[in-house]
Amino acid sequence: MPQKVRTAVFPVGGLGTRFLPATKAMPKEMLPVVDKPLIQYAVEEARAAGIERFIFVTGRGKAAIEDHFDFSFELDAMLQARDKLDGLQIVREMMMPPGSISYVRQQEPMGLGHAVWCAKALVGDEPFAVLLPDDLVQSNTPCLKQLLEVYEETGGNVVAVMDVPREHTQRYGILDVESDDGRLASVKGLVEKPKPEVAPSTLSIIGRYVLLPQVMDFLAEKVVGAGGEIQLTDAMARTIGAHPFHGLRFEGKRFDCGDKVGFMEANVAFALARPDLGADMRSALLPYFT
Ligand code: G1P
Repeated sequence: MPQKVRTAVFPVGGLGTRFLPATKAMPKEMLPVVDKPLIQYAVEEARAAGIERFIFVTGRGKAAIEDHFDFSFELDAMLQARDKLDGLQIVREMMMPPGSISYVRQQEPMGLGHAVWCAKALVGDEPFAVLLPDDLVQSNTPCLKQLLEVYEETGGNVVAVMDVPREHTQRYGILDVESDDGRLASVKGLVEKPKPEVAPSTLSIIGRYVLLPQVMDFLAEKVVGAGGEIQLTDAMARTIGAHPFHGLRFEGKRFDCGDKVGFMEANVAFALARPDLGADMRSALLPYFT
């Protein structure tokens, strides 16, 4: 039985320049999809998968994230005094158990691999999950839970994957597949952002990972890869052979909320799926398509 995964790392140090001016004074992870910030979706997904320790790798200008997960005395008291019970329930239910969130700063933006490495001391010598809040997944079973179910069977490293058009391989970490049953792929290699003509497949990693602690040893070497950054994909590739490595075609739809169209599509999809908003949203959108 593989060791239980208790910890999740959330790299939230990115600058979010693609969303300027919205992200000039606000972390991109605080952008809301409908009425909830992206980071809260990721945290709720991890909680629903049984994660108990939450590590945020932050950077300058990210204090709003810490405030968001803190108790707001004034807000709580005001909502109570004004009998705003719906609001009160929302802010109380999102409170995390005391001591479950830790923050560590990535001092310089040196890449995703470096961000994950910054959490090394807090993670310790245990398997851990990584969730990239830009990747939002709408699914019946939380995406991370799906990965953990596979991890419990296979052990080793497990990442969420999806097929992408070949012309998009340069946006993702791509799998070199050893065998594939249509759901689970066993991986013999990984390449970060390959050009379409050299990509070993079109199976792309999306931002959900279950990783053994050994990946931290390779990240510690700070090898610079694609785009001049320390890449998580490169360090993961070096664990192959020593440990099983699988890619799971998860059930659900992934929205790239690091991209404007993807972000707006997520807003529409999540609003349409909401029992309290779906019907109104549908009639509000209809005139644009008729
Ligand atoms: C990162 C990873 C990449 C992965 C992608 C998923 O890239 O480096 O391997 O496929 O996230 O969203 P980024 O989007 O940060 O450039």
